[in-house]
Amino acid sequence: MQTLEEILKKRILNFGPISISDFILESNLNYNYGYFNNNLPFGEKKDYLTAPEISQMFGELIAIWSIDCWKKMGKPNQFNLIELGPGSGYLMKDFFRVIKINKEFLNKCKNIYLFEISPLLKKIQKKNLSKIDQKILKKIKWINNFNKIPEIPFILIANEFFDALPIKQIELTNIGWRERMINYDKNKKKFFISYSKNPTVLENFLPKDDECNRIGSIYEIPYNMISFLNDLFYKIKKIKSACLIIDYAKFKIFGNSLKSIKKHKIISPFKKIGSSDLSTHVNFNLIKKISNQFNLVTHGPINQKNFLINLGIMYRAKTLFKNANNNQKKNLEKGLDFLINEKKMGKIFNVISISNKNINKLTGF
Ligand SMILES: C[S@@+](CC[C@H](N)C(=O)[O-])C[C@H]1O[C@@H](n2cnc3c(N)ncnc32)[C@H](O)[C@@H]1O
Repeated sequence: MQTLEEILKKRILNFGPISISDFILESNLNYNYGYFNNNLPFGEKKDYLTAPEISQMFGELIAIWSIDCWKKMGKPNQFNLIELGPGSGYLMKDFFRVIKINKEFLNKCKNIYLFEISPLLKKIQKKNLSKIDQKILKKIKWINNFNKIPEIPFILIANEFFDALPIKQIELTNIGWRERMINYDKNKKKFFISYSKNPTVLENFLPKDDECNRIGSIYEIPYNMISFLNDLFYKIKKIKSACLIIDYAKFKIFGNSLKSIKKHKIISPFKKIGSSDLSTHVNFNLIKKISNQFNLVTHGPINQKNFLINLGIMYRAKTLFKNANNNQKKNLEKGLDFLINEKKMGKIFNVISISNKNINKLTGF
């Protein structure tokens, strides 16, 4: 059996260097060998932990945020819930426990769309959600084409979705801005970074900044996120909807944020291709800029710590703590710390909400 490393090596040697975006796409999503199609990434014994894997409180609070959002939308008689990249399905599992109690919200929620591209993760989500309330289960539909969702108002949640999408990178070299490519050295038997021969239109995306004149500066263009958001924001504007995006934030405008994670450690993107997770940091200022082009309302970005505290994570933790045994108490404390500690997820994860301008101010910000 071939490995993804061999496939990419042959492709480069036969057809020339590939872009960073193709490399991310192949590593994460190659149909046969891609990371998300062959691995369950989440867990202490797996590769990394996401917020819903860490604590039930995360999904519960997102549900509270969504109910508030629906009220501020004017309680539409029919609306859809959408989650992008639901991972193992845990966020929704905890989310459903909360919305089950709010009958009005639940009755008016027409469908719940889970946007997932990986057949393996889709299977895992189906299994993890199989025991939920039958009334809710019937509303769930798995999709891999965002444009198939009927156009009624929606609330969309995306936790750690945009950081998994392919991006492009450009670098200022001695001969000008060039696209960063992945190449393969036959003699040294290793992958390395090379540059496009010709200038690239990607240069048009560069912001006005002194860094633009420094040889070696790298600028990232999340072209996939940009086109996804253009579609999404067009719909938010057209059908009075809202979204909540939570992700690993990019704090520096310039620099290479591509990283590969295996067993909770950052490793070289060229090691364990297809069996480690490739991701990049998300440019929240860019999200805000695109939303402004659609004349939408932006809440945030703020950090995850403040967002969860504003939504009442301390009160929720106290309530759960009261009825917990010693082991559960330990897990609760650990989970809370992981989510809001500024040295863990609290500061590096940011939250932004984009809503139609006819929706009142949303909670949590
Ligand atoms: C980092 S995981 C996050 C999982 C989950 N949201 C969580 O917080 O635990 C990324 C998710 O997005 C999915 N995904 C990645 N690229 C995608 C794409 N292009 N289209 C649809 N889903 C994608 C993955 O299969 C996975 O479910």
